[in-house]
Amino acid sequence: MDVLVTGAGGLLGSNVAAVAADRGYSVLGTYHNREPELDVETAQLDITDADQFAELFATHAFDAVINCAAMTDVDGCEQHSEQARRVNGNAPGEMASIAAQHGIDFVQISTDYVFDGRRDGRYAPGDETNPIQEYGRSKALGEETVRDGHPEALIVRLSFVYGRNNQGTIEGFPAWVLDRLAREESTPLFTDQFITPTRAGSAAETTLDLSREATTGTVHVAAQDCVTPFELGTTLAELAGEPVDLLEEGRMADVDRPAVRPKNTCLAVEQTESLLGRAQPTLEEDLLALL
Ligand SMILES: NC(=O)c1ccc[n+]([C@@H]2O[C@H](COP(=O)([O-])OP(=O)(O)OC[C@H]3O[C@@H](n4cnc5c(N)ncnc54)[C@H](OP(=O)(O)O)[C@@H]3O)[C@@H](O)[C@H]2O)c1
Repeated sequence: MDVLVTGAGGLLGSNVAAVAADRGYSVLGTYHNREPELDVETAQLDITDADQFAELFATHAFDAVINCAAMTDVDGCEQHSEQARRVNGNAPGEMASIAAQHGIDFVQISTDYVFDGRRDGRYAPGDETNPIQEYGRSKALGEETVRDGHPEALIVRLSFVYGRNNQGTIEGFPAWVLDRLAREESTPLFTDQFITPTRAGSAAETTLDLSREATTGTVHVAAQDCVTPFELGTTLAELAGEPVDLLEEGRMADVDRPAVRPKNTCLAVEQTESLLGRAQPTLEEDLLALL
């Protein structure tokens, strides 16, 4: 299998590139600003440059493109909405269309932030999207342009991604919590936000499994557990053997940020489990794997 992984310098992309290489796939990983240290072939690519993307097909016979590149700074997207639309909205559609012209599979990584977070239960893949900030709007546009450009594409929605990068360093929420606990700083964590955290290494395996099975449509990839950041932080601290008494209950309204966050974006993963014939990891399994 020959795969093109865009955004291979990012947290998810570096995990997808590493897992694909471990499986014996031929991998080209693209980076944007900074060349990452990866054990696979790399090339520079700005995904908003469709000609540059198309040129990669002149020298490689890819079976699949996995687009992990995105503008992921939620507040940055609020302040630079046009750029967010270009990177997260229009570019994925253009890449998907070029992949379709070459008869190649296309996987678009998307987000739980396409939902408004106003419901009590979990969101299923077919539920109506209604993003409430520019990041979510740009990613929802990306889903739409990808579906238009490549009707057989696979769209994989993740939630609250964390994990180890290609240097083995922990990134995301657990890195922030563990760092503060190591410095013995009290740490307020929200009790009024609900998420299904996604470990990048596990999501990389699942995404490649779904791609290998030529899955199409939209799927959710996340841990089984729907938790608050406070519960996530507490479980993490306990498993890491750190004192939990430094963790304090906080509320989303306590923090002033440019972009509003949805309250509940817990993803239903049953469809993914039945497609793969196995359960998605529990939060504890994922955190133990991280640690
Ligand atoms: N992080 C989360 O909590 C979360 C939650 C749900 C879904 N997701 C989705 O998961 C995917 C991966 O996220 P991540 O956490 O791995 O993000 P990340 O670590 O920020 O990586 C994103 C990568 O995209 C690259 N990129 C940005 N603009 C680009 C451009 N114009 N051309 C080419 N590459 C570009 C970045 O490279 P440079 O830094 O060099 O620009 C970066 O390496 C994204 O689709 C994101 O929307 C993330």
